[in-house]
Amino acid sequence: MAAVSMQISDGVAVITVDNPPVNAISQAVRQGLMDAIAAANADERARRILLICAGRTFMAGADVSEFGKPPLKPDLPDVVAAIEGSEKPVVAAIHGQALGGGLEIALGCHYRIALQGSRLGLPEVNLGLVPGAGGTQRLPRLIGAEKALEMITSGKPVNADKAAALGLVDQVMAGELQAEALVYTQTVAATVPAERRLSSRPVKTVSGSLFDDWRKVKAKRQRGVQSVQACIDAVEAACTLSFEAGRQKEREMFLALRGSAQSVALQHIFFAERQAGKVAGLNGAELMPVQSVAVIGAGTMGTGIAMAFAQKGFDVTLLELSAEALARGMERICSLNAKSVQRGRMSADQSEAMQARIRTTTDYADLADVDMVVEAVFEDLGVKTKVFAQLQAVCKPDVILASNTSYLDMNKLAATMERPENVVGMHFFSPANIMKLVEVVKTDYCNPVVLKTVLGLLKTLGKVGVVSGVCHGFIGNRMYQSYQREAGLLLLEGATPAQVDRALYQFGMAMGPFAVADMSGIDISYMMRKALTPEQYDTRAFTVHDRLVESDRKGQKTGAGFYRYEGGEGAGVNDPEVLALIESVADELGFERREISDAEIIERCMLGLVNEGAHIVEEGIAGSASDIDVVYVNGYGFPRHLGGPMHYAKAMGIDNAAAKIASYAEVLGDRWWSQSDTLNQAAVQGHWD
Ligand code: NAI
Repeated sequence: MAAVSMQISDGVAVITVDNPPVNAISQAVRQGLMDAIAAANADERARRILLICAGRTFMAGADVSEFGKPPLKPDLPDVVAAIEGSEKPVVAAIHGQALGGGLEIALGCHYRIALQGSRLGLPEVNLGLVPGAGGTQRLPRLIGAEKALEMITSGKPVNADKAAALGLVDQVMAGELQAEALVYTQTVAATVPAERRLSSRPVKTVSGSLFDDWRKVKAKRQRGVQSVQACIDAVEAACTLSFEAGRQKEREMFLALRGSAQSVALQHIFFAERQAGKVAGLNGAELMPVQSVAVIGAGTMGTGIAMAFAQKGFDVTLLELSAEALARGMERICSLNAKSVQRGRMSADQSEAMQARIRTTTDYADLADVDMVVEAVFEDLGVKTKVFAQLQAVCKPDVILASNTSYLDMNKLAATMERPENVVGMHFFSPANIMKLVEVVKTDYCNPVVLKTVLGLLKTLGKVGVVSGVCHGFIGNRMYQSYQREAGLLLLEGATPAQVDRALYQFGMAMGPFAVADMSGIDISYMMRKALTPEQYDTRAFTVHDRLVESDRKGQKTGAGFYRYEGGEGAGVNDPEVLALIESVADELGFERREISDAEIIERCMLGLVNEGAHIVEEGIAGSASDIDVVYVNGYGFPRHLGGPMHYAKAMGIDNAAAKIASYAEVLGDRWWSQSDTLNQAAVQGHWD
């Protein structure tokens, strides 16, 4: 079947794009559209043209298999221009998704109608690009500069109703699209009114400071992301230049960004996230039904996890030791919801409905029918084992039992159960109702269908699941310890907390490691380290942390940690006492202090992550280096536009990274800088996987 076909029906040339699964705009589709528009204009039986797509969606974007290859003619801008230039009026009938090039094609059409529930957007910014086929020039002419800026710089699609309110679509349809679209098309004027060709429309004048204001806001919110600023430039061009000059500028920016390091990194992480949720060899395996969920423990994590499920319509039973603990938990949920309502993130009705889906109990017997349990009680194997035994006594035999443990040995926990194959780790990040990452910990006993079910469920929750093997701290926290270790050693060697934090913030991390430690409480990792032997970590790097905790400087919650917090939360200020403590610990441990450059801070902390990451891949704890990148971008504030730590090494040249790691091994010793075969092989190959 041709990717694009044309049929005449009641005076309408119906052009159908059929390129499964998502009608990606491949070369065959582009050429097919060119030919079909020409044929429809030449065919006397048709006075009007309807563009529609077969299958589950309108055109949902570019053909990813053409990425990174020499461009094939015809270019998309020429296709859009041909559609817009059609003598006979063209109506786009949208269902499913009209994204990226798909929406740009629709903007080339003279009329747009959309089926209820469809989504329209220009997500190119998320791949480090600007829309490259006139989207930044036509959209402001249709919906105004400010709304266009909103859609283009966020990359977020709007639904059909919102699109109608914006003027992006002319009508929303509710029934059978093709039939309704045919009727609609027959009603449009046979001659295209001038203003229906968006390129010839003037743009409404905008206030002088609009673009600079947007640049400033976005420079803060999407720090360092080139494509966001380029999108603003492109929309500004639409408002200040002729259509042709603006379109040329857009194309130049698109081509320049396409090969940029940031775009390569953003594409890497885009594909890595899609890959992460897949379980090899399980195609066609039936998933286990999960409708009702229980959460054990209504503390920080349990409440967040309950919210994550309830938000997506699951019935949740929250179990605690006492009615008081449950009341505290529900209070927390209500107050978090109230804040979300206040900020406009959810309506009061949604908040109420969500809370109504969470029921509370102190009685395990109430969990007899649930399909899945997520345990989030104290981080103590004894306590968790007891909870699991109680669950086993009351739950259905095939219930999925998950633990939110951060560090404990999931194999040991699973081994205490009659059905260890149904036990899995589900390591959510705090706040669990917001953070996207969940490490799914696969024990030695794990049933792959359970794993696949959990990963599928996470997708439903809007989370990104990454499979991790069993080890202390799993993928993320195990690597984070290497990062903190280098940061801690750099303090002793001559840096200050503020310098380390500033250097890593400027690199792009959401926060520096000492600001993070103060925020989450230095005592949390202190307690975790108490369970380790001195052979398992570099005690020197954490001596300052330990001394701070022992003098009741646990971070923000005690008003002081690495920084001092005057007047509650917010940015901390430097504290001479901490600097004196660092110097005295350095002296005690025999460090000679020297000047440390920001470049060294970034390189050591990043390569600390990379080297541990390579060991983690070698041991099979992570399925691939790209899984590690997904963990770091979604759970640890690693800048998405740098693609994650393993991609960072690839971008600098893995051979180069390996050589630097080898030189650190010489200077700093190979206790932490020993090189894995995975690293050495990747250095030769030039890539990880
Ligand atoms: P928390 O101390 O805030 O909450 C634990 C709750 O469990 C308390 O409300 C307690 O009353 C309840 N509980 C204790 N024993 C129980 C039992 N036998 N039956 C029912 N409820 C019981 O602790 P948090 O921070 O929520 O941590 C929970 C788990 O999540 C731990 O395993 C922790 O390592 C893990 N985790 C914590 C993260 C964090 O940032 N706080 C991040 C990721 C995982």
